[in-house]
Amino acid sequence: MTGGEARTTERLTLRVPADRDVAGYRALLMHPTIGVWLRPPPLAPFEPADGDAWLAEDTRHWERFGFGPWAVVERASGEYLGRVGLRRTEIGDRDGIEVLWAIGPARHGQGFAGEAAAAALALAADLEIDEVFAMILPANAASVRVAEKLRMERAGEVEHAGFDHLLFRAAPARARPRDRRPS
Ligand SMILES: CC(C)(COP(=O)(O)OP(=O)(O)OC[C@H]1O[C@@H](n2cnc3c(N)ncnc32)[C@H](O)[C@@H]1OP(=O)(O)O)[C@@H](O)C(=O)NCCC(=O)NCCS
Repeated sequence: MTGGEARTTERLTLRVPADRDVAGYRALLMHPTIGVWLRPPPLAPFEPADGDAWLAEDTRHWERFGFGPWAVVERASGEYLGRVGLRRTEIGDRDGIEVLWAIGPARHGQGFAGEAAAAALALAADLEIDEVFAMILPANAASVRVAEKLRMERAGEVEHAGFDHLLFRAAPARARPRDRRPS
């Protein structure tokens, strides 16, 4: 099974990102209140080309693994809201799968990150992924709150991209009893 079909939640469509999302990626990364968490100082801020590169990387990730970061689109308006989903990456000194979230600032505080991330953990359960991690800068209180609302457990700290991060862990496959998994 792969996760390539679009999923819907109460308010969202979650779909594989496509070329038409390039403006959304650029706007998301270029916004200072987003970029500061995804590429903190002293790293150089994002440039528009980074949006293109992240979109291309996410597309490749989907092609290679059958899952990846979704384009989050509001069902009612069709508006691109952000990037949430699963991604293979280094978790400290080993490979693992993270759940990531970023929502455009104009729509913060409406529960969209939590709604999309819960769907990502449900997809991880469908894919029988045992462990999913979130790596969050300690000062990123909104992101910590998202992890807490998802009932991810604290799993210590980890260095990632040169910064100390709080590590959160979920066990999607184990959270869903085997006899209730879709066949
Ligand atoms: C983190 C982020 C994705 C949250 O998106 P969102 O759609 O606003 O998230 P939600 O509405 O689902 O939940 C946010 C929660 O954080 C809370 N929150 C927001 N700002 C906060 C702050 N400064 N301190 C504490 N809690 C905060 C909200 O009140 C909400 O909790 P509640 O539902 O209990 O009220 C968004 O802020 C973002 O895109 N940030 C920049 C990118 C980023 O940091 N990504 C994560 C990298 S680890």
